[in-house]
Amino acid sequence: MTTAVVFATKHGTTAQVADQIAQALGGAALIDLGVNPSPDLDSFDAIVAGGPVYAGQPVKALKSFLAANAETVLARPLALFVCGLEPDQAKREAEIAATFDEPLRSHAVGVWFAGGAFLFDKLGFLEKAIIKRIAHVTESTTTLYDDVPAQIAVAVKGAR
Ligand SMILES: Cc1cc2nc3c(=O)[nH]c(=O)nc-3n(C[C@H](O)[C@H](O)[C@H](O)COP(=O)(O)O)c2cc1C
Repeated sequence: MTTAVVFATKHGTTAQVADQIAQALGGAALIDLGVNPSPDLDSFDAIVAGGPVYAGQPVKALKSFLAANAETVLARPLALFVCGLEPDQAKREAEIAATFDEPLRSHAVGVWFAGGAFLFDKLGFLEKAIIKRIAHVTESTTTLYDDVPAQIAVAVKGAR
């Protein structure tokens, strides 16, 4: 049984979460959509897919991947996650809905908000200015929900 953990990332935090999910599964193929935007998923029994939220929206690579592979992911056990730092629950739900359309959310074994990180040394000038203004954050912060990778692994193993 092999699982693909498919992710998009801008600054590496989602890659870190994807890696933790693969470890919690006891091994999985890690597929970075930035490196391979059109992976062949035929040989995988289960799919985990996730990406970060910027300004309330998913990154394009993840949206495009899900649109192009809807049939494949809907035919397999599927777990979904987003990385983000939005504190408001209703806004988190809206971000999840913007990332994964209804058929995906209904089919998935679960959808997780995994938390995220502001890594100042990796952000560009504009991104720093935006988060200083909007989130009032002026230094690197990491708020990852450490139990999420294990929860995803348990849900995927139960469904495969
Ligand atoms: C400019 C900027 C805008 C962001 N906007 C949002 C947002 O609207 N909602 C949210 O939940 N997180 C937001 N975040 C937080 C990111 O989702 C978080 O930093 C995430 O860990 C990034 O993942 P990545 O390193 O894989 O790209 C924003 C971060 C930056 C730098």
